[in-house]
Parts: sequence; structure tokens; C-alpha cells
Amino acid sequence: MSSNRDGFSSTFGVLAATLGSAVGLGNIWKFPYLTGSNGGAGFLLVYLLATLLVGLPVMIAEIAIGRAARGDAVSAFERLRPGRGWGMIGVMGLLAALLIMAFYSEVAGWVFAYVAKAAAGGLLSSDPKLLSDAFGALVADPVSALMWQWVVLALVGGILSFGVSRGIEAVTKRLMPILFLLLVLICVRGLTLPGASAGLAFLFSPDFSKITPAVVLVAVGLAFFKLSIGMGTMVTYGSYFRADQNIPMTATRVMLADLTVSMLAGIAIFPAVFAFGFKPEAGPSLVFITIPAVFAGMPGGAFFMVAFFVLTAFAALGAMLSIVEVPVAVIAERFGLKRWQAALISVGVIGAVGSLAALSGSLTADWKLFGLNPFDLFDFVSSNLLLPAGGILIALFVGHSWGRGAWLRELSNDGALANQALAGALFVLVRWVSPVLIALVMLKGLGAF
Ligand code: TRP
Repeated sequence: MSSNRDGFSSTFGVLAATLGSAVGLGNIWKFPYLTGSNGGAGFLLVYLLATLLVGLPVMIAEIAIGRAARGDAVSAFERLRPGRGWGMIGVMGLLAALLIMAFYSEVAGWVFAYVAKAAAGGLLSSDPKLLSDAFGALVADPVSALMWQWVVLALVGGILSFGVSRGIEAVTKRLMPILFLLLVLICVRGLTLPGASAGLAFLFSPDFSKITPAVVLVAVGLAFFKLSIGMGTMVTYGSYFRADQNIPMTATRVMLADLTVSMLAGIAIFPAVFAFGFKPEAGPSLVFITIPAVFAGMPGGAFFMVAFFVLTAFAALGAMLSIVEVPVAVIAERFGLKRWQAALISVGVIGAVGSLAALSGSLTADWKLFGLNPFDLFDFVSSNLLLPAGGILIALFVGHSWGRGAWLRELSNDGALANQALAGALFVLVRWVSPVLIALVMLKGLGAF
């Protein structure tokens, strides 16, 4: 069975696809706006700690589970420890995938719309009022919001139909390097703006007064979101890893590269925020109003702005492929459907639920649960509840059910790698530290004590 299963074909392909999953709107949209609205450097520091202590070990755990079992996010757990209900983790992951895609595809839709707007030359201005009005108009129009979301979903479904190596790997391998280069270029531009230093100070000198338990939970949620962990994406991708791939090393590289992209995005955005008199607390609209301003006064700005949104669209695409691959793999493998059928079903369900989020700037703006409209609710429930809870369960599965022996064998490629000490230390982290830490942060962040 596993011999004719599709998978990633080269080490670079593995890296590109996994990094393609990690790098996305989380870096270019979510990281800057959360850092901006939660006080800057202090938030960044908590996020870094969460990434190292919890994110990386859980990411390694997910990939190891997937590769050991060579199965989709539900089957993998059942295959490694049959009959004990661990498949529930995958089922929870399917729900998380649905909720994340419901708002993610909408933000990706804004990005695609901005590609079109920028190409038509409509965004070249450094007037904050004009730019926020332009963004507001887009979000408030139900027809364009829905249309762009469906364009995005059709594209994702189409690429996934081609499969793992010819779809996911082929696309991400080409896009990731270009994204990186362009981001560096934009950073250089941002740093040479007059008044750039205030932005850097905001990003790098911490003010701990803003760090409340709720903010710590947001930082942990972001760490999960960034590394694509807690819902089975990395289990699914791990199942496509080659047998000789060094899992801890690959995960560490992806984590570092992802962090670099986030920092570059921060350096691209915050100097401009301060230079043009925007507010760092703008929230989800932050990139959509600051980035055009960065380019407005620059020679060749019109071209670079189009390029920026095109590449953000690609980054979003690589991430969405990995989210939707979770249900696609489950449906295709468990029900024996063709990939295109599985993709169609997944995208259809996401589109139906996602419409509620897409209309959050217009028709469903007043549909509130716990004071949150559908867009914010989907984001909060998935990032701050489902992903961390999934992380706890995955860590418990490895530490208390799958066990140390299987863990060491999988991380060392059956003894081929001399990393016993490292794998042993990671096991202690996964068995005790990560689940306890996540649970404490969740309980405290939600105000349980
Ligand atoms: N990491 C991606 C980003 O930063 C989003 C993403 C992809 C994701 N797959 C995921 C988030 C799985 C949570 C779980 O944009």
C-alpha cells in the first residue's frame, strides 16, 4: 500500500512544501497585526518562547506520527495505536481545518482582490484615510467578498486535484524562493523611509505591561498557527516525507525560515506604519493599508506593489494547500474517492461555511456569538482553542501512548541518525513540558483561574 502512495519526491521538495505550509498569511497578515495590537516586542518575545518550547516539539511529533503511520490525519493515530479512540484527534483536526479555511480563504480573497486593484493602479497613495476607505469598501461589499473567496477556493481545489508531488510540491517549489527575495527587497525600502527607527523600536524594545494571560494565549495560538500544527497538517505532510528525511532537522529549518519571514514582514511593515502616521493597532486591515503607502512614493512602486500582493497570494496558496490537504487525504483514503472528488467536497463545505465569514463585513456583521462576528469567532475558536487543544492531545499521544521506543526509532530513521540524546530530550518536552504548559496557558488565558 505505502509503495504506490504519492509523496514528496526530493529533499528540497519536502522543505518547500513544509515551509510553504508554514509561511502564509500568518506571517504577512496575522503576525504583524497581532504584534501591532498587543504591544510589539514583548509579544514577540512570548511568541518566540512558545515557538521553541511548545511549537517545535509538537511539530516534530506530528511529522513523526505521520511518517511512521503513512496515513491521513485520522488513520495515522488509529494505525499506530489501534482501538483506543486517538483518531478523535484527527476528527477534531478536520473541524479546525474547516474553521481556519472559512476565514483564511476570505483574507486570501482580499489579497487576490488587491492584486487586481494594484494592477489597475488604484492603490497608489500614502494618505491613511484614503487607503482605509478603499479597504473598508472591499470588505463591506458582499458580492466581491464572496466572489474572491470562491476564486481562491477553486484554485486550491484545482491544484490539490493534481496530487501531492505534481500539485503541492510543484507549486510550492517554484514560489517559495521568489517570495523570500521580494520580501527582502521590501524590507530595504521600509528601512530607508524617513522615520523608520520608531517602527524598529516598537518591534524590538519590549514593554511587558501589555502582556496579560489572554495575550499569552494569543501568542501560543499564533505559534501553533504559524507552524501549521495542532490539527493534523503536519501529520498529513509527514506521511509524504521520505524515509531518509531527518525530521528534527527539517522541522528546525522550517521553524527558523518561517520565523525569518515573519521578522522580515515585521520589518517591512512597522517602519512604514510609524513613518506615515498609521496606528500599529489597526487590526486585520493593517497590511492592506500600510503596504500600499510604502510603495506609493517609491520609484517603480506600482510594479513592486503588484509583486508584493502576488507573492502574498502565493504564500497564502501554499498554506491553504496544506490545510485543505487534511480533509482531502482523509476523504480520499478512507472512502476510496478520487482526489478531485475529495477536493471538490472539501472546498464545497469550506465555501458554504466560509461565506458566513466572507459576509462578516456586511450581511452577517451583527451575527454575534460571545460578542464575535463569524470571521472573528472562527479565528478565535480555531487558533486559540482547537489548535492548542490538539497540541495537548498530540503530545499526550506521543508521550503516554505511542511511547519512547517508537519515538526514538522514528526520529533516528531506525538508528541511521546519531541523534539519540536530542530525541530523548525532545521526548521529555513532549511528554511533560508541552502539554502542561499549553494547558496552563489555555486555562489562565480563558480566565479559569
Ligand atoms: N501556517 C500557515 C500560515 O501561517 C497557516 C496554516 C497552514 C495552518 N496549515 C495550517 C494553521 C494548519 C493551522 C494549522 O499562514
